[in-house]
Amino acid sequence: MISSLNRYMTEKKAWIDSQLPLFLQNASIPEKLKKSMSYSLTAGGKRIRPILLFAALDAFGEDEEKGLATAVAIEMVHTYSLIHDDLPAMDNDDLRRGKPTNHTIFGEATAILAGDGLLTLAFQIVASDSLLDARTKIKLVELLASAAGAEGMVGGQEEDLEAEDKILTLDQLMAVHRKKTGRLIKMPVEAAALIGQATDRQFEALSAFSDHLGLAFQIGDDILDVAGNQKELGKPVGSDLANHKNTYVSLLTIDGARRELTRHVDRAIGCLNESGLKTSLLASIAEYLSYRTH
Ligand code: IPE
Ligand code: IPE
Ligand code: MG
Ligand code: MG
Ligand code: MG
Repeated sequence: MISSLNRYMTEKKAWIDSQLPLFLQNASIPEKLKKSMSYSLTAGGKRIRPILLFAALDAFGEDEEKGLATAVAIEMVHTYSLIHDDLPAMDNDDLRRGKPTNHTIFGEATAILAGDGLLTLAFQIVASDSLLDARTKIKLVELLASAAGAEGMVGGQEEDLEAEDKILTLDQLMAVHRKKTGRLIKMPVEAAALIGQATDRQFEALSAFSDHLGLAFQIGDDILDVAGNQKELGKPVGSDLANHKNTYVSLLTIDGARRELTRHVDRAIGCLNESGLKTSLLASIAEYLSYRTH
């Protein structure tokens, strides 16, 4: 199963990697800004959000072409969140996706604008997708805005910053993680459910699956910030400690964080049974995320 999963993930990553530049290329953008947007967007990255969207579409037997524009949009929003997350005013990091961070190359002002540009282009791409009907697109726009915005990722990032130098309870930290990272992991799975015209029961099962997965993903990120390898991660190790962040590791130790990671992955997989869909691919991705090293 692992090797067929590896093959699937490699293939989908290659597809989205080849498509992302085309969506940027076609837009009329000032040269330096376009370079800055392209620099971060094409720097690599695991493309886990697009892959989750394609795997969830597969569960519905839907053509993955139907999810391409949405997957591109989500990856743009995610990349914008990384550019801003690395800024001196936020986590002040100098390495991302194995390259110097956007602001260290293009300057802070252009890095901020590159993020703004990716965020807004994402919505333009969803709105102008010719493969989906207007009703589905409006729902996708609503879903993406809610996941990315002040009640989702942006709100979580604010709470993450406000909690520096304080100690949160585990419940408070879980809430921050759900927002700052969880919502943008959940969104592609829910997007696929919308495109696949899920029943209420299927939507709820996939929503619960991706909720646990999103939390597990950030717990894994917290662990890798301590136990990971900078070369493999392509970003600094020890950033959380340097910024006095609350993490699953700071609250529970590495072993405790690993236990929580496994528990949420197991619960995620358990939720899939409720969907009655063909979810073996989603289950393997969830398992893979529990032992990822980057
Ligand atoms: C890193 O996300 C930031 C988080 C939200 C945890 P990823 O681990 O998906 O980063 P890339 O896209 O592979 O670079
Ligand atoms: C960031 O969490 C989540 C985002 C919304 C970008 P982190 O600050 O831990 O992400 P990394 O470790 O820098 O990728
Ligand atoms: Mg951060
Ligand atoms: Mg960071
Ligand atoms: Mg991190």
